[in-house]
Amino acid sequence: MTLGAIGLILLSLLLSAVSAPPLAAFLPVAAKGAMVVTSEPFASEAGVQILKQGGNAVDAAVAVGFALAVTHPFAGNIGGGGFMVIHLANGRNTVIDYREEAPEKATRDMYLDGQGAIIPKASTVGSLSVGVPGTVAGLAMAESEYGKLGLRTVLEPAIKLALDGFPVSHALSESLRHYSPLLSRFDQSRRIYLRNGNYYRAGEIFKQPELAATLELIAQQGPGAFYDGIIARKIVATMKQYDGLITLADLRNYRAIERKPLTGHFRGNEIVTVPPPSSGGVALIEMLNILEPLNLGPPDAYHSIHLMTEAMRRAYADRSRYLGDTDFVSVPVAGLLSKAYAANLRAAILASPPDSPIDAGNPMPFEGPDTTHFSIVDAAGDAVSNTYTLNGGYGSGITVKGAGFLLNNEMDDFTSKPGSPNMYGLIQSEANAIAPHKRPLSCMTPTIVLRHGTVRMVVGSPGGSTIMNTVLEVMLNVLVYKMDVLHAVTAPRFHDQWKPNALFLERGRFSADTIARLRQAGYTLRFLKSMGECEAITVNPKTGWRFGAADPRGSGEAVGY
Ligand code: DON
Repeated sequence: MTLGAIGLILLSLLLSAVSAPPLAAFLPVAAKGAMVVTSEPFASEAGVQILKQGGNAVDAAVAVGFALAVTHPFAGNIGGGGFMVIHLANGRNTVIDYREEAPEKATRDMYLDGQGAIIPKASTVGSLSVGVPGTVAGLAMAESEYGKLGLRTVLEPAIKLALDGFPVSHALSESLRHYSPLLSRFDQSRRIYLRNGNYYRAGEIFKQPELAATLELIAQQGPGAFYDGIIARKIVATMKQYDGLITLADLRNYRAIERKPLTGHFRGNEIVTVPPPSSGGVALIEMLNILEPLNLGPPDAYHSIHLMTEAMRRAYADRSRYLGDTDFVSVPVAGLLSKAYAANLRAAILASPPDSPIDAGNPMPFEGPDTTHFSIVDAAGDAVSNTYTLNGGYGSGITVKGAGFLLNNEMDDFTSKPGSPNMYGLIQSEANAIAPHKRPLSCMTPTIVLRHGTVRMVVGSPGGSTIMNTVLEVMLNVLVYKMDVLHAVTAPRFHDQWKPNALFLERGRFSADTIARLRQAGYTLRFLKSMGECEAITVNPKTGWRFGAADPRGSGEAVGY
């Protein structure tokens, strides 16, 4: 090798060292006061603005919820639904269930043809896929029960973003173009989101005057404008245009429901999470209970992946068999969450070879009956963990004419046909069959972890059927492996949902040795590009500092002060 060549190599080494990102880029965002982490920077700013105006975490959450409906139409919404978990510094924990509902005219077999076969796309695209939206009722309930500033004030950032517009990010520009096959099927969506084929490029300003007017009506008249006023009439007119089922009576009847959170305990931490009609909280606590006393060994290695996968398979088998809307069907929630039931499952895991065939367990007794997550902690110690969704990216594809917002395709989360997979490959049972006013089973898992009664962690993610596994893994990364929150959300992820019989790993992120050992043990491996988009906050129990991390898999932002 010539001296010149050696010089070139040295120079390139030096340059690569100089241009490497500063170490700070690998640290979470730290703040003494408050922290907002969402999947979109303007929405994070909206939350911080409301906190600085004197709002609490709930005010900020409602502002973020409406802002994402403007800046992140992929999943942010007023035409969808979700769950908000709230912890107040005075010790109160509560959940607002604003999941969509099946319309009155929905029927058990509405997605089956005369031969009993599933009609392709009927539950995922267009008018029949739409559930009665819950977001406006849920956000309004959160604001009136637990906010300080009032709906008018917390809607202001969203109204401004819709009216004045905001610069389109590279991510939004790519996303809109990617979803053009869906959005171009419906004239209003094609006009607003695709500019009739003149696609938005990064940096162009995206204004949404119709959506601004809709939000202004909600600010002036409250949620009644959406469920019983001008906006309701526009939703019904759009439903008529596309032969949909939702009527004015469906909208008038819709209520957000305040529910008691599910709670569990894991190694001295209290887990506060979402009850049915989400399956996320039940599955999360069931998995944590199974894993609690086990020595998991190092993260992302064969032993921990094996034990966690076996816990996942059992929780998903139980989900498939037992879970549905508890206002309609009996679900053995107490049995599924009991430490004794978990001990039985754990013993079975330890006694059987990896990936042994399993079915749902017997958790007696029975008792009565494309998504985005954000996490907020305010300066007083209140916290909100909120996941809401249109289901698939841009939902049903339908935009309400004259009102400028997309409608969900949440009906696909019901069981279209027992034993047949939905769009996330989930096999579901009669417990989640379609019935008028019933809420479809969800995987959303907004969760708050408390330690000695104060916030330790706020966490959640989108990702359909993978959601509770993402939440489990990020949580264990913090609580067991003591990672900082940025490393915890960045770490490689894996997923098993019992059926299909496959262990999914993020591609390129696990060692060859781990992969070989998992294969040797009998797992059928499949590879995913990436899994979930977790927006999380941790609080240092000694100093009270808040640490925020937006998942690098997405394009969100953590902002603190
Ligand atoms: O409620 C559920 O479980 C689904 N509708 C969530 C959809 C979702 O996470 C899509 N995002 N990737």
